[in-house]
Amino acid sequence: MRAFIVLGHRVPLTPNFTLNDLPGSAGRLDILCRCVTAAFCLSHGIRRDVIVYLVLQNQIIVRLEGSQLRHLNPDERSTAALLQRALKAFADSTHKDRELESSPGIFIAPGGLSDALKSVQGLGLRVYWLYEQGSPIRHAQLHKDGAFVLSDHLEFLPEEAALLEGFPKLSLGPLSLHADHCIVIVHNELDVRFAFPPASQ
Ligand SMILES: C[S@@+](CC[C@H](N)C(=O)[O-])C[C@H]1O[C@@H](n2cnc3c(N)ncnc32)[C@H](O)[C@@H]1O
Repeated sequence: MRAFIVLGHRVPLTPNFTLNDLPGSAGRLDILCRCVTAAFCLSHGIRRDVIVYLVLQNQIIVRLEGSQLRHLNPDERSTAALLQRALKAFADSTHKDRELESSPGIFIAPGGLSDALKSVQGLGLRVYWLYEQGSPIRHAQLHKDGAFVLSDHLEFLPEEAALLEGFPKLSLGPLSLHADHCIVIVHNELDVRFAFPPASQ
């Protein structure tokens, strides 16, 4: 099992945005959509052993469960429409303290980074902080069941960094990369290490 926790600092908390302006009035929702694609989409299929937590302004968590996910296509716009639908279901709900499922495999609930961290730890996943100045992932000991935390286009806020400080910081290389590219690299690193172990001697 793998999880990715992506922090969306400017994504609106309501569905009142247009799918025609994801990088602008939708607060860089395009980045989160690309992260979802990178986390789940294979050439011909979906990674079912993945969970993505999109933490919106540290107030709402949209959780996508690969094991139950349906209607996910590789383009940004249709993913944004699924997320907008989740925000609409939440906005219309009379029980905003409760999680609800807005479409198969997509859940929305109030919560922030600390809740997402508790959730993945409850699943037994090891948390890793993807951080440009961390230790090189190539030489790091990695657990096959990991939860990786990354930010959108903005730096981690001091309160987020404080929550993450105790976890291993991993660098994917010397350059600052797009968040979705980081997810692809992490998947590849874990695929190579664990999905295709070297044949025993
Ligand atoms: C586009 S970067 C964030 C913006 C960047 N920190 C800046 O200069 O404003 C998105 C996220 O991807 C992850 N990331 C990017 N490059 C990385 C690298 N070389 N190693 C580890 N994580 C990286 C980090 O979690 C980062 O917060």
